[in-house]
Amino acid sequence: MGERVIINEVGLRDGLQNQPRLVDTDHKLRLLNALLAAGIRHVEATSFVSPKAVPQMADAAELMAQLPDRDRVDYSVLVPNVKGYERAKASGARSVAVTLSCTETMNRRNINMGLTQAEAVCAEVMRLAAADGLIGRAYLSVAFFCPFEGQVERDVVVRLAAAMFDAGAREVIVADTIGSADPMHVRDVFGSLTQRYDPKLLSGHFHDTKGLALANCYAAFAAGIRKFDSSIGGLGGCPFAPGAAGNAATEDLVNMFASAGCETGIDLDKLPAAVGVAEQCTGQTLGGRWLNWRRSQHAKQATRATGAN
Ligand code: COA
Ligand code: ZN
Repeated sequence: MGERVIINEVGLRDGLQNQPRLVDTDHKLRLLNALLAAGIRHVEATSFVSPKAVPQMADAAELMAQLPDRDRVDYSVLVPNVKGYERAKASGARSVAVTLSCTETMNRRNINMGLTQAEAVCAEVMRLAAADGLIGRAYLSVAFFCPFEGQVERDVVVRLAAAMFDAGAREVIVADTIGSADPMHVRDVFGSLTQRYDPKLLSGHFHDTKGLALANCYAAFAAGIRKFDSSIGGLGGCPFAPGAAGNAATEDLVNMFASAGCETGIDLDKLPAAVGVAEQCTGQTLGGRWLNWRRSQHAKQATRATGAN
C-alpha cells in the first residue's frame, strides 16, 4: 500500500463561486453524487457568506439539508464571520472553515475587514467551533502572493497559522489563491510550518494560473503535506482576487499521486463523468491536462477502430 493522500474536493465552493451561470441546488447535488461515485470522501460543500457578495452560494442551507452520505463523507463549509458560523451550525455542519487572508487589502476586498479584525473574527469562530464540538479549519488565503500587496512574507503566514491553532483550529490550509507561488516558495513556507506543526494538521490549496499547481502540490508533498484541495475539471477562480484561475484539477492531482504510488481512494476512471456533470452545470468546457490526454487517446482508438472496419 502506498502512502495515503487526501484529496479535498472544493469545486462546489471555490469552483462554482465565480461562475456567471447560477447553478441550482439539484445540479450541485448531481455533481456531488458524481464525485462521491468516484470515491471522493472529502468535500467543501458550500459557503455561508452574504448572498449579495456571492449569489452562487445563496442556497447553502438547502444544499446542506440534502447532502448525501453524511456519515461517510467529510463535509466542510466556509464561513466568513460569526453570522456565517451560526448559519452553518444551524444547518448541521460538523466542520467549518474560516478564510483569513494574509494581507490587509485582500481581507478588505474579500470580507470587508482589515487584517486585525479579520484575525480576531476568525479566531472567535475557531473558539466557537471548538466549544461547540465542531471541527474548525482555517484557510490562510493569498499566503504566497497578494494581487494588491505583492509577495507575502513567510513569517506572516507562520504567525497567522499560530494564531489560528492557538484559537482551536484543527487544520490550517495554506492557499495560493491567485496561483502565483512556485515550488521553491512552497517548500520554504511549508518547510517552516512543518518545523512547528505536525504535517497532518496542514493542507495545501493551489490554483493553476501559471501552470504550476501540480508542481506546487508536489513541493508541498515533498515537505510532508498529505492533504490537498482541488476542483473537478480545474473549475474555479476567486471573484475578489483579480487574475485567479481555477484550482488544481482533481483528476490531475489524483493521476499525479497515483503515478507517485500514493493511495487517494479515488477511481480516476470515474472522474471524467464528474467533469461532464460540471460542464453541464456551468456550460463551460472543463478538464485538466490528464483529461485532455485521455480524450486524445480515446480519439486515437476510435480512429484505429474505424480504420480496421
Ligand atoms: N451570511 C449571510 N448574510 C450575512 C452574513 C453571512 N455570513 N454576514 C453578514 N450578512 C448580511 C448581514 O446580515 C447584512 O444583511 P442586511 O443588509 O440584510 O442587513 C449584510 O450581510 C451586511 O452585513 P455586514 O456585516 O455589514 O457585512 P459586509 O457588507 O461588511 O460583508 C461579508 C461582509 C463577510 C458578509 C461579505 O463580505 C461576504 O460574504 N464575503 C464573502 C466573500 C467570499 O465568499 N469570498 C470567497 C471565499 S475566499
Ligand atoms: Zn481558491
